[in-house]
Amino acid sequence: MRAWTVLGIETSCDETAAAVVRGAPPGPGAILSDVVFSQLEEHRPYGGVVPEIAARAHVEMLDGIVEKALSDAGLGLAEIDAVAATAGPGLIGGVMVGLVTAKALALAAAKPLVAVNHLEAHAFSARLSEGVAAPYLLLLVSGGHCQLLAVEGAGQFRLYGSTIDDAAGEAFDKTAKLIGLAYPGGPRLEALAKTGNPKRYRLPRPMLGRVGADFSFSGLKTAVRLLTLEEEVDAPDLAASFQAAVIDILIDRTQAAMAMFRRDFPHSRSPALVLAGGVAANHAIRTALSGLAAEEGFSCKVPPIRLCTDNGAMVAWAGVERAALGLFDPLDAPARARWPLTASSGKEPA
Ligand code: KG4
Ligand code: ZN
Repeated sequence: MRAWTVLGIETSCDETAAAVVRGAPPGPGAILSDVVFSQLEEHRPYGGVVPEIAARAHVEMLDGIVEKALSDAGLGLAEIDAVAATAGPGLIGGVMVGLVTAKALALAAAKPLVAVNHLEAHAFSARLSEGVAAPYLLLLVSGGHCQLLAVEGAGQFRLYGSTIDDAAGEAFDKTAKLIGLAYPGGPRLEALAKTGNPKRYRLPRPMLGRVGADFSFSGLKTAVRLLTLEEEVDAPDLAASFQAAVIDILIDRTQAAMAMFRRDFPHSRSPALVLAGGVAANHAIRTALSGLAAEEGFSCKVPPIRLCTDNGAMVAWAGVERAALGLFDPLDAPARARWPLTASSGKEPA
């Protein structure tokens, strides 16, 4: 299969990112450049991402970041095969900044455009770093999403389960805030949990053992909140107890999805369990799920941490996946605040 060289742009949340990657499905690919500017400092005083501040920062930063991605790769726009940008789901102002920039570049250089679903970019990130044959089982755990899906190819997903309330990363961030950690709380909570006793506090594990593979995290969050109201909590012990509960939930639900995957793909001998999204950067979660995969006859594939959190390389790689199938988008492709993965096929209604 021919190799594609794609420029990817990511602006759907609080990272302004651009990257150039080269390769062909099922990977691995070569990351020729990968530039990420995190707007953390801009949002920190507000304890969360402020959409208007994000959009403005993307406008200010993006041109320079795209230029740097091209120069780091040692390539001019003329040597790129396609321009890819996240077209949703995400904060609409930011998504529009990235998509409009990609359209302008594609038009100016007469290159095809790929309008990328941000979740699809996460879903394929392990193919960029490891090379993974489809079909595989994907656990996508980020700040906005928590889903288990079978991935068959670009635009081809079977949803096994998703959260009925909060996303896993949201639960981490909210719990971290209750414990008094600064935003973004996920990585800080993980660090704190290392020194804590995970058995100190008995926290609920919603949905455990339920039919299907859906998740729920709001009861866990509420339990943490009540605990902090009732007593003087030990922060490391609470962090460790919370993380242990999340791990139990992820393990139970992923095990349920593994059975569904086996039923749907009985001939897939040693299928992969792929982790993706910001929460997959958590070491304890990575270790627990690779243990489950080993027990269940799945091979566990986890992208390096830099590819788990939002970045341009995964968007460029999603562009490679779609370009290889001839799935390009017109210059009037819309930016979408909402865009579920199971509706991201190549021939999607507008
Ligand atoms: O994928 P991502 O960068 O952005 C979204 O598309 O949502 O995920 C960000 C989420 C945040 O909720 C953040 O707290 C969480 O991932 N996260 C972590 C860790 N690193 C990032 N959660 C737990 N442990 C971590 N080490
Ligand atoms: Zn993301």
